[in-house]
Amino acid sequence: MSIRILATSPLVGPALTELGARFPDLCLAAYRSPEWQAALAEAEALVVLVSEALSESDLDSAPRLRAIGAYSVGVNHVPVKACQARGIAVVNTPGVLTDATADLTLALLMSLTRRLAEGEALVRSGSWEGWAPDQLLGSGLGGKTCGLLGSGPIAQAFARRVQALGMTPIFWDREGRGGMVDFSAGRAPRLPLADLLSRSAVLSVHCPLTDQTRGLLDRSALERLPAGAVIINTARGGIMDENAAIDLLEAGRLGGVGLDVYDGEPRLNPRWLQAPRTVLLPHLGSATVETRAAMARLLCEGLAAALG
Ligand code: DGY
Repeated sequence: MSIRILATSPLVGPALTELGARFPDLCLAAYRSPEWQAALAEAEALVVLVSEALSESDLDSAPRLRAIGAYSVGVNHVPVKACQARGIAVVNTPGVLTDATADLTLALLMSLTRRLAEGEALVRSGSWEGWAPDQLLGSGLGGKTCGLLGSGPIAQAFARRVQALGMTPIFWDREGRGGMVDFSAGRAPRLPLADLLSRSAVLSVHCPLTDQTRGLLDRSALERLPAGAVIINTARGGIMDENAAIDLLEAGRLGGVGLDVYDGEPRLNPRWLQAPRTVLLPHLGSATVETRAAMARLLCEGLAAALG
């Protein structure tokens, strides 16, 4: 059976090539290139990256479309409701990137609080003059409370990690559920947002970007955090008001911000580049060979099932 699958780039591992062999009309064309635009007319399935937003008008240009494969767990870049209305399946990659993302979140937190990037830059500059009692002092994490925005698999995986560091995790649930979260290594409460914010020495974002969570961390939410709190975001940029966070950093009210994701990325609010006490990563949450290959496998299995 020949089915036109339009992908914007090769994926990690053999899965996409194998899918192309099974439904032999795989077309690779760069996102929004004239070739891609033209191929939409015949496409029965699309594969897009997290950075490649689709609109309803793309769906209009693709009358034969039956499935969209998002090479990500997040689907905020896909018009999911319009797809549902048209009977187009949306396939994503939940589960397989949970640990990689939680690991990266921990790396970002440690890098920020122990000033790893500054230390590395000092050594590489050639101007390090040796150990000193007050050199590049960071802050410890043990005994502090870590607020998690979200209570899904990635939030829970990160809770296990911070608990191992001696921190106390607490959760906020966007569906408003109360009660306890059993995160395998322990149990912790789900709290109302204002409560969670006022207790969080570390705040880590793990919810998807939806109409409900866009701008959730606005200026007044950020001001509820204890003085010196640090924020880590490996979820989506649009959840936090970046200018408000930078103002609070500059005013010394926030202890630090570690980001893997940005509103409107890869375009960056230029103020981030000057902001103090920041670690800025280029959306690396799922970036391990194993994880990206597993994501490709899951995506292609889902597309194969949707295409029949
Ligand atoms: C996702 O999967 O949504 C990440 O942001 C990219 O892997």
